[in-house]
Amino acid sequence: MPRATSCSSSTMVAASFVQTKARGRIIRYEYAYHPFDIVGWDGYVFPWAFSIHDFAPITGKLHMPPPIHQSFQGAGFVICSFCPRVLDYHPNAIVVPYNHSNVDSDEIIYYCNDKFGSRKGIEEGSITVHPLGIPHGPQPGAVEASLGATRTEELAVMLDTYAPLWLTKEALQIEDPEYWKSWQPKK
Ligand SMILES: [Fe+2]
Repeated sequence: MPRATSCSSSTMVAASFVQTKARGRIIRYEYAYHPFDIVGWDGYVFPWAFSIHDFAPITGKLHMPPPIHQSFQGAGFVICSFCPRVLDYHPNAIVVPYNHSNVDSDEIIYYCNDKFGSRKGIEEGSITVHPLGIPHGPQPGAVEASLGATRTEELAVMLDTYAPLWLTKEALQIEDPEYWKSWQPKK
């Protein structure tokens, strides 16, 4: 998206050009200002980066699947942003995710704080990896603990990849070998 500068009577205005491709034709638009210099953008041209704090999560009456948190998509991956929001508002809603097993992607989550509804024991900077096919979800007691909650302050970023993720030696050095036990009931 190249920028150009044009002069009006007394001010310099930086113009931006956006090219869209449809039916084999490229159409060029000229904007007086950069199109991302706005509060919100509801279109098919995506910014290169934006603050997670500016993401407006979708909420619903009943629990909805992770794609409602999707904030980016690229070739072979999606990124979901779990942000502070009102929780599911049906009186009988279970507001934490259901147990699931990804059938087509590996899943890695980076936690920006320690307030993730379905998981205790995480802190800012924690990372979890759930490879394709491994069942996971709320820890024992998390569903019961969430009943009646109306809001979450969780902040986390999830990367789902459609090609396998392979752990590096460095990652193995910080692995918590007890992680799998977090789904076992406390005795
Ligand atoms: Fe998952």
